[in-house]
Amino acid sequence: MKNKVFLTRTLHDFALKELRKRYQIEIHSGKIPIPKTKLRSKIKEIDGLICFPYDKIEKETIDCAENLKVISTYSVGFDHIDTKYAKEKKIRVGYTPEVLTDATADLAFSLLLDVSRRVSEGDRIIRDGKWKKIYGAYDYVGVDLQGKTIGILGLGRIGSTMAKRAKAFDMKIIYHSRKRVSKSREKALGAKYVSFEKLVSQSDFISIHVPHTKETDQLFDMKVFKKMKETSFLINTSRGKVINEKDLVAALKKKIISGAGLDVFESEPISKKHPFVKLPNIVLAPHIGSSTKETRSKMAEITVKNLDLGMKGKKPIYSVGY
Ligand code: DGY
Repeated sequence: MKNKVFLTRTLHDFALKELRKRYQIEIHSGKIPIPKTKLRSKIKEIDGLICFPYDKIEKETIDCAENLKVISTYSVGFDHIDTKYAKEKKIRVGYTPEVLTDATADLAFSLLLDVSRRVSEGDRIIRDGKWKKIYGAYDYVGVDLQGKTIGILGLGRIGSTMAKRAKAFDMKIIYHSRKRVSKSREKALGAKYVSFEKLVSQSDFISIHVPHTKETDQLFDMKVFKKMKETSFLINTSRGKVINEKDLVAALKKKIISGAGLDVFESEPISKKHPFVKLPNIVLAPHIGSSTKETRSKMAEITVKNLDLGMKGKKPIYSVGY
């Protein structure tokens, strides 16, 4: 009898083919995310789980498992999994960093370019038939990037890659991280370490690259927005819950800050009734940080490899805690 693996959503054909060689697989169909009750009843009977960043794998869900050896998430983020409890239960957790670093930094930089040069706003103006006069001195003006300061919050893999992009655009780079990186890495990236307060008050652009944790929950709220420059922009490709969305809406409406580019939201997907949708000075993307053909394939490959290792009782290539 093959071991049982459950997927909360389908993956690439090549990945399914691989999985089928070794396991009896079942793929959830229907409502996404999978309803909690279904997940809890499935987890009881399986040996391996492949999940996505919106699937909440809490203590109570883990407690339903009887034979589960490994949880392999198709994401770099693992804030949706109670990894501490999984470790206690000796369940391996695999995730997919590194392969999505460039794609996510590219998306963060494209949001920065888009909002600062008003590309999506211009696109809407044309599609709505509102482009009436050409080339006015004050029409649709954005801001230059060269010489401007970017504040990178979290100088891990993606934050560092964002710094490389910013350096190529002749921006000044400051950063704040839980841990200061080595002097040689700072030098290579051209990045200067500052306190969180300085990052907030000195940046023309802030790009968030920290995970969602107790410490970063709702970190960007009205108090922080009021300390940012009126001319500044906020970019977020990490997790939506790092920002207090109600406060961001108010800050954008009152022009406390100039604009924002977001790929992630407190609760996803957002509908067209979300207050962000009515604001002109915000660029919105549907959580596509890692969404390139190449990156998503590599993520599927790692997800399968992590699962395989965990099924053998070994540490996944990229493993959280255990
Ligand atoms: C992840 O993998 O956690 C990211 O959110 C992808 O964009």
